[in-house]
Amino acid sequence: MERVLNSETVKHIGSKVSVCGWVQTRRDHGKIVFLDMRDTSGLLQVVIFDSTLVKQIEDQTINREYVLSVTGTVAARPEKLVNDKIPSGTVELQCEKIEVLSAAEFPPFEIEEELNVDEEMRMKYRYLDLRRPTMLNRFKLRSKVLQFIRNWLIEKEFVEVDTPMLTKDTPEGAREYIVPSRLQPGKGYALPQSPQQFKQLLMVSGFEKYFQIAKCLRDEDPRGDRQPEFTQLDMEMSFVEQEDVMKLNEALLIDLIEKLAPNKHIQTKPFPRMTYAEAMEKYKTDRPDLRVNKDDPNELAFCWVVDFPFFEKSDNGNWTFTHNPFSAPVPENMADLMEKKNIPDIKTTQYDIVLNGFEIGGGSIRNHQASALHKVFEIMGLTEELIEKKFGHMLKAFAYGTPPHGGIAWGFDRLMMLLTDTPNIREVIAFPKTGDGRDLMMGAPSIITDEKLKELHLKRS
Ligand code: AMO
Repeated sequence: MERVLNSETVKHIGSKVSVCGWVQTRRDHGKIVFLDMRDTSGLLQVVIFDSTLVKQIEDQTINREYVLSVTGTVAARPEKLVNDKIPSGTVELQCEKIEVLSAAEFPPFEIEEELNVDEEMRMKYRYLDLRRPTMLNRFKLRSKVLQFIRNWLIEKEFVEVDTPMLTKDTPEGAREYIVPSRLQPGKGYALPQSPQQFKQLLMVSGFEKYFQIAKCLRDEDPRGDRQPEFTQLDMEMSFVEQEDVMKLNEALLIDLIEKLAPNKHIQTKPFPRMTYAEAMEKYKTDRPDLRVNKDDPNELAFCWVVDFPFFEKSDNGNWTFTHNPFSAPVPENMADLMEKKNIPDIKTTQYDIVLNGFEIGGGSIRNHQASALHKVFEIMGLTEELIEKKFGHMLKAFAYGTPPHGGIAWGFDRLMMLLTDTPNIREVIAFPKTGDGRDLMMGAPSIITDEKLKELHLKRS
């Protein structure tokens, strides 16, 4: 018999159907047994009166997390027994046949909505943690938001392009993960901190509007809103100014929240804007939390922060970029950049988008003139040789006719964290890492064997 989802049983009152899923709970009431069955659509109560079936449940020790196929007749529940907390709460399935599809050991923790276990345990048994409907629902929303963004941007003629994962190191503020090359002894690839250079090169290619749901990898210390592996909604556009990028992103954010998270309300539209200097003076942070009522989980207070200083002094006393070396300065500071003067006062075209005190995205208009980009590297104190080695490919590409361009990347996990009212991004990443970068379920990172080291031309230190 064809399987129906638990939530669909309400459409089959009086008919015989089969459902499949996991046993959430078993309740024995003398001669009657109740099983709450869980599937991707929610819970369903199965009631077993038949003594042979009750015996089968005992003989086969059917209990929590067994996977069953249950056939029976859907019956309406009497009014006072209706459970409005579950989608099938107006019905129950009167069981006629049980088939065990898979037995289950008693789980290390009971898979209930309110878990009483520490997070390490949840991460070790993530596949069980993810069985909870709250978790599944977060990923259903995540998937819908991604789909919405894709449709929205493709409708506006954006082209989705995958850029490489095995690439070359680039300065973007964090350490890179390195992958040793087997075929090129002594050499290695860097995993991308972001698709920054590739998306700019796509503008040189004339793609004009690019986006990607991009995996980014950064070897930095994780914290609540940071993971070594995370997802960006990355985009880049040609022939645009700061205002165009900001307006488009604002429209997309508002549209997606109104359509997919209608319970949320955006505090101020259009989003307020402030300069870095104003934010620092008024809020002592460049990520101000502008919510009026911080106890209201549905309040979303966005703001844009602009006019960041381009350069700051690094620990070794050299100038370094505050955000992105590829950014252009604001037009009125271009002359200073080209003359390498008034460096601390040069402002970048960087714009950050902040939501409830979290930086959920950032971007800029880029230096599309090779000479201006070269000046940034000179100010940073890089030698000609190093500039050529690290960025020669970009400077060369820019020499072949480069449109003015700019873009942005959202920290997609951070946005989902705020849309799902979760306290950290681990809650919206299916298989996250611990604070010290471990995957407790897979046991990664793991010791690299001598054989593998040899193959990769590496020595153990
Ligand atoms: P940036 O480095 O600011 O810019 O990254 C963009 C956004 O990505 C999110 N983010 C992170 N989220 C989770 N874990 C992390 N470790 C992490 N690091 C960053 C933040 C941040 O705002 N290429 C540029 C974008 C551009 O200029 O177009 C870039 O990557 O929400």
